[in-house]
Amino acid sequence: MSRAVVPGTFDPITRGHIDIITRAAQLFDEVIVGVAESAGKGPKGPLFSHDERVALARESLADLGNVSVMPFSELLVRFARSVGADTVVKGLRAITDFEYEFQMAALNYQIDQEIETVFIMSAPGNMYLSSSVVREIARFGGDTSPFVTPCVDRALKGKFDA
Ligand code: PNS
Repeated sequence: MSRAVVPGTFDPITRGHIDIITRAAQLFDEVIVGVAESAGKGPKGPLFSHDERVALARESLADLGNVSVMPFSELLVRFARSVGADTVVKGLRAITDFEYEFQMAALNYQIDQEIETVFIMSAPGNMYLSSSVVREIARFGGDTSPFVTPCVDRALKGKFDA
């Protein structure tokens, strides 16, 4: 039984994440999407609370039978071990992702050599899609529906509509 963790902050989950998770779900028997608390990320922390990010990921991924969503607030490799996964899957977009991902993969390897990190290349159409650009579009009243699921689109409108 192969089990992988796909970790992230998912603030919020985008169609780019969903593409990577869907493809991971074809490669592994079971995929656990780990939503990191990431409290220190950005000057004010994430836009969505930890609970909101988990709920939006759950609703957005409900159609994938072998995928479950769990929150975590610890080292990624410890979380992976605690759920019985020996692989971490990350998406790689443009070359700009590489240095950051390379550093995280190397550090995670240093901490626990039994947890392997593997990368899935983003679909070409998603190369420049990120949670931060989606938040930016929403903040200025743009249409985020091409980039996120309907529940996330509604949640973004709820955050920014006066
Ligand atoms: O979507 P993100 O923000 O790029 O994902 C980053 C994430 C959540 C995978 C990373 O910050 C992480 O693994 N956080 C958990 C804490 C941890 O293990 N940090 C050390 C990694 S070297």
